[in-house]
Amino acid sequence: MRIIRGKDYQEVSRITARLIAAQVLLKPESVLGLATGGSPVGTYANLVEAYRRGELDFSRVRTVNLDEYVGLGPEHPQSYAYYMRRNLFDHVNLDPGSTFLPDGLAQDAGEACARYDRLLESLGGQDLQLLGLGGNGHIGFNEPGDAFLLPTHRVALTESTISANARFFESREEVPRWAYTMGIRGILAARRIVMVATGIAKAQAVYDVFFGPVTPQVPGSILQLHPDVTLVGDPEALSLTPAENR
Ligand code: F6R
Repeated sequence: MRIIRGKDYQEVSRITARLIAAQVLLKPESVLGLATGGSPVGTYANLVEAYRRGELDFSRVRTVNLDEYVGLGPEHPQSYAYYMRRNLFDHVNLDPGSTFLPDGLAQDAGEACARYDRLLESLGGQDLQLLGLGGNGHIGFNEPGDAFLLPTHRVALTESTISANARFFESREEVPRWAYTMGIRGILAARRIVMVATGIAKAQAVYDVFFGPVTPQVPGSILQLHPDVTLVGDPEALSLTPAENR
C-alpha cells in the first residue's frame, strides 16, 4: 500500500485526479470504477478541467459505480446516477451508454445484483477503482459485519451511514434505508485501487483499515490484501497513521 499526502482537500483532489488521468492516458479504453459522496467531488472537478484543457479523452472509457440507493431513480437529485451526471458525466465526452450504476428502481433485487456482477465480469474488471471511506470503515456500502467476499448485494445502511449521508438530503428521514452495493469481491477484482480520505472524521477509519486487523467488522481492512492500493489523504485523515506518513 502506498500513502500519498496532500496538504488539503484541494491538493488531495488534484493528486487523485492525476492518478486517474494517467490511467486513462496510458489505456484509453480503461474501465474506471467510480465512487460518489463528498470525497471525490474535487477529483471529478479536476478531471473535468483536464478534459476542458484538451488533456483527456474519455470517449473509450467505460465506468462502473460502486452503489445506488434502493428506490431512487436516475432523475432523483440524491440518486448516485444524478450525482455522477452532475459531477462528471455531463461535462466530459463519456459515452452515456458506457456508464453503469446499479438500478435503484429494479423490481427484482436478486436479479439486479446478479446482472451487475455479470456486467462487471463482461467488462473484465476495473482497471482502477476509486473509493471513499465511511467513518465506520465501509467501502462502497459494504457495512461492518457483512461477510467479506459478497458479490453485489442489497444492504441495509447502518445508522451511522444514514446520519453521515443525511447532509445530502433535506432531512434524515429522507435518506433511503437500503442500497445496492458492489460487493467486496467486485472491488477487489480491480487491478488498482485509489482511495481518497480527508478530514479528521476519517482518521480512525484510515488507521483501522490500513493498520488494524483484517476483519469484516472493518470492511475496508480487506484492502490490506490487495496488491495495488494507493491512499491519498490530507494530514487530518492521516493523523493516526505511523509518523512517516503524516
Ligand atoms: C459512495 C460510497 C461510500 C462513500 C463513503 C464516504 O459511492 O461508496 O463508500 O465513499 O461513504 O463518503 P464521503 O466521501 O461522503 O465521506
